[in-house]
Amino acid sequence: MSVTIGLDVGTSGVRALAVDESGRIISEASAGYPLLSPRPGWSEQNPEDWWQAIRETLGKIASETGDKVIGIGLTGQMHGSVFLDSAEEVIRPALLWNDQRTEAQCEKITELVGGERLISISGNPALTGFQAPKILWLRDEEPENYARVARVLLPKDYIRLMLTGEYATDASDAAGTLLLDMRNRDWSPDILNALEIPREWLPRVYEGSEKTGELRTEIADELGLPAGVPVAAGGGDNAAAAVGVGIVREGLVSSSVGTSGVLFAHTDGFKRDPSGRIHAFCHAVPGAYHLMGVTLSAGGSLSWWREALGRDYDELVREAAEVAPGAEGLVFLPYLTGERTPHLDPSARGAFVGLTSRHSIAHMSRALMEGVIFSLKDSLEILRELGVEIREIRATGGGARSPLWLRLQADIYNAPIHRTTSDEGPSYGAAFLAGVAAGIYKNVEEASSQVKLREDITEPDPEHARVYEEYYEVYRSLYPANRSSMRRLTELAARG
Ligand code: XUL
Repeated sequence: MSVTIGLDVGTSGVRALAVDESGRIISEASAGYPLLSPRPGWSEQNPEDWWQAIRETLGKIASETGDKVIGIGLTGQMHGSVFLDSAEEVIRPALLWNDQRTEAQCEKITELVGGERLISISGNPALTGFQAPKILWLRDEEPENYARVARVLLPKDYIRLMLTGEYATDASDAAGTLLLDMRNRDWSPDILNALEIPREWLPRVYEGSEKTGELRTEIADELGLPAGVPVAAGGGDNAAAAVGVGIVREGLVSSSVGTSGVLFAHTDGFKRDPSGRIHAFCHAVPGAYHLMGVTLSAGGSLSWWREALGRDYDELVREAAEVAPGAEGLVFLPYLTGERTPHLDPSARGAFVGLTSRHSIAHMSRALMEGVIFSLKDSLEILRELGVEIREIRATGGGARSPLWLRLQADIYNAPIHRTTSDEGPSYGAAFLAGVAAGIYKNVEEASSQVKLREDITEPDPEHARVYEEYYEVYRSLYPANRSSMRRLTELAARG
């Protein structure tokens, strides 16, 4: 039996999985690291902490699977910036995907490249979390660090450098920099020139299932792995997770409720939203693309609520399940950390609208969970508007294990919700990509055919769906009506 390893450099820690040829998990390990926020809106991590956690988890997996390992695949949090000098030393902590400091640089990028041209080449407008504005921020704010930069890498690609000595990335993660020409799946000379970013700083772009190098002998010896194991390009965490639940053909969509919520659709060709509300990225499937809507506080809204109340999660959800759809006229806007899709507004704020003295905590919990799914429905509606085929929706993330989250998705989307038998997140998909690079599978589609659907499907309740259609109309009207008040409150709060 041979196994492949998927390594996920996540935001709270590394998750490593060893998977056999039939997709069975043989071994797993995790290790955490701190998230640093030296100022409000800043979010950073030390790449050395990622590397430490990778050595720990890979060492543990190797002790159980050792000489059976024939491939490694990488995935991780997208958009982060690792700045390296010419001696491959990390210059400063990496700025992460959820860092909000680059609003001025986003405006500059839009001005230099042109808003429409940027979306037409890179698939997306300039958003604060993406990598390119972080490079400009370093130039503007830390010129002494900027003067030392010789390379800029995405988080998982720093780990690749440590494992193999190679500078490489994959098209799905590269698309999250804002510097990629989506049609050519390579760096855009137009954008690089406009922003004066040297191409030599960026790694070579591969397809997700291509081999980018081999495990260095000294690392293999240290960790107890065979030398020369191929390391696959891999994918950004959402693309890799999609491979892991089989979203590798048109018509398939995943709906993930984790801390954030993600609606992900495979597209064969490059489709984009001309107004940039939904992200357009390359897929980890060679030559393919995906569209993706992100709700920043999905499960995160429920965690906030649970912590604020000091209550038990299961109890809150049990009570919410007993409340009728619509929570007696209560609607929640889940914009607790600003919002990406569809508003692209870091100043958006959350709200309960429609409170009366009849409402209890149970009604509020119900409305909160419904609001999160309304927000994901916004992404589904944009996909429909763009003509994307939606044949089957697969639930994933923590929300796929909760009957109420599943029911809300079925009723609010008014569509059956499917689940896969194994739902292991990005590292599972990365292990499949490694399997293709190692020659176990012919291609990513064949690897993903190991993914099986469960027999139980959550069907929509037509009566609930009808009620939600009306509540959704109200939900949709609330952000535009409150946008300027939200912005003003954000300004007032910043004044202290
Ligand atoms: C995607 C995004 C997050 C990160 C962290 O655009 O910002 O999903 O990849 O997981």
